Amino acid sequence: MTKQTTAERLAELTELRTELAAHADSDAVRRQHERGKLTARERIEALLDPGTFVELDAVSRHRSHEFGLYERRPLGDGVVVGHGLIDGRRVCLFSQDFTAFGGSIGEASGAKLHKLMDLAVSIGCPVIGINDGGGARIQEGVVSLGYYAELIKRHVDCSGVIPQISLLMGPCAGGAVYAPALTDFVVMVEGLSHMFVTGPEVLRSVTGQAVDREELGGAHSHNTVSGNAHYLAQDEKEAFEYVRQLLSHLPSNNMEDPPVFEAPAESGRSAVDNELDTLIPDQANRPYDMLRVVRTVLDDGDLLEVQPLFAPNIICGFGRVDGHSVGIVANQPLVSAGVLNIDASEKAARFVRMCDAFHVPVLTFVDVPGFMPGLDQEHGGIIRRGAKLLYAYSEATVPMVTVVTRKAYGGGYGVMGSKHLGVDINLAWPTAEIAVMGGEGAVGVLHRRALQQAADPEAERARLLDAYERALLNPYMAAERGYVDAVIMPHETRSAVATALETLRGKRASRLPRKHGNIPL
Ligand code: HXC
Repeated sequence: MTKQTTAERLAELTELRTELAAHADSDAVRRQHERGKLTARERIEALLDPGTFVELDAVSRHRSHEFGLYERRPLGDGVVVGHGLIDGRRVCLFSQDFTAFGGSIGEASGAKLHKLMDLAVSIGCPVIGINDGGGARIQEGVVSLGYYAELIKRHVDCSGVIPQISLLMGPCAGGAVYAPALTDFVVMVEGLSHMFVTGPEVLRSVTGQAVDREELGGAHSHNTVSGNAHYLAQDEKEAFEYVRQLLSHLPSNNMEDPPVFEAPAESGRSAVDNELDTLIPDQANRPYDMLRVVRTVLDDGDLLEVQPLFAPNIICGFGRVDGHSVGIVANQPLVSAGVLNIDASEKAARFVRMCDAFHVPVLTFVDVPGFMPGLDQEHGGIIRRGAKLLYAYSEATVPMVTVVTRKAYGGGYGVMGSKHLGVDINLAWPTAEIAVMGGEGAVGVLHRRALQQAADPEAERARLLDAYERALLNPYMAAERGYVDAVIMPHETRSAVATALETLRGKRASRLPRKHGNIPL
């Protein structure tokens, strides 16, 4: 056989590239579009800065002979991997290609994923996974399981080292769901994404439960009920935009700080600041929107909420103060009086730990009547699961600032970024009520017998209530002891918070060496 000429070799590569491009008009692609989904490559183009994608292992193919698999050896083997830029910063990403073996992962595609993850961690850049596939490739048996499990181990090894974001843009079933579940953020698309350990057909045959894909593991269910997802996008475009915004608040890895943006021009005390002075209703049980306080403090009033539809009695999200990223945790009195239940505790605990891992200061706003009473909560493990939030605040070493706007009762006071857990600067409004419990409860416990014996129990109750509220439902007992560093006027919040965060920018903290803590799981 004669040696190939240089021209022939170049032509061979051109042919391979044509084959890759030709894929873009195959029948499978048409079906993908008919399902309302972009292809793996179109998604990458839509997510990255234009023209920045560098593909790796484009010509990788499987070498499996099982079940006639060798007859079909599509280039890329069902996943497109590589790196590119988002807002000029490098990210590594993979995009499962549902048009090839249903995006399932076998030996060749698994090796691509491992290599990509190893690259991401070695250069210290975020990794983004676009999931749209059938999980471990059935024909390749235990080999595909092994590759999937090793991918999952890599997600764990990268946790807290590089930000990891998963986009769910199609099915993700069986053990494969644990790959996205172990990343920092899961973004799902209405009507398009499904995640479940056991699909509807198996569920029906095993348990008799009849439930469709959407209810079982659709984007809405995971954003509102299970809490497995962090954002519900209306379409793929919106999902990509959310990811870009998330990344703008995070460093590329845990050795860096988050990017700093230009601070808005100093405008002095504004009408929006002044409105806070009349925000708190005179009646303690009347709600108000905590988002108004949060937005007043943030640059341009911009808050990027995380899990906005799950446990909305607590608000978690990212914003900026003077151009610097900050993570917000805030009770929302508009929903169940801002009470802490299991879901709210776990939502906030995960968020605080995520901020701590990536050097994002935590800013907490408190108006909390306490932990949620109830048999379902007690039996559901509110002791063990509520403890996660105490753990998260206590172990965090990032700068932390807390503002108490109204109620900070009992365990709620302790857990919501109190000084006692290591928060650096604690502020309170004059309307703050920092006490073991509210007036009605306290009078009932302390004066039950006196009230039973009183000639006019109602008048006596009112007198005792008034005395309790004046003595204990204020910020001054805490301020006297330094548990609150300053009582501030509500309109001063923005400048006081900005000064506090600026003061803490050089904060240094260290911990005793240990293998790892033992957070109650
Ligand atoms: C090989 C697969 C596949 C898989 C889908 N396909 N899943 N091929 N291995 N795991 C192929 C189909 O044969 C079909 O090929 C094409 O992909 C499209 O699939 P459809 O079923 O036609 O599509 P749809 O109706 O949309 O259903 C998609 C689906 C379903 C929900 C993903 O295919 C499905 O349930 N697949 C199995 C999912 C699963 O249980 N995987 C194992 C997970 S366990 P053709 O040639 O007809 O187009 C796991 C363990 C990880 O991943 C280890 C963790 C430790």
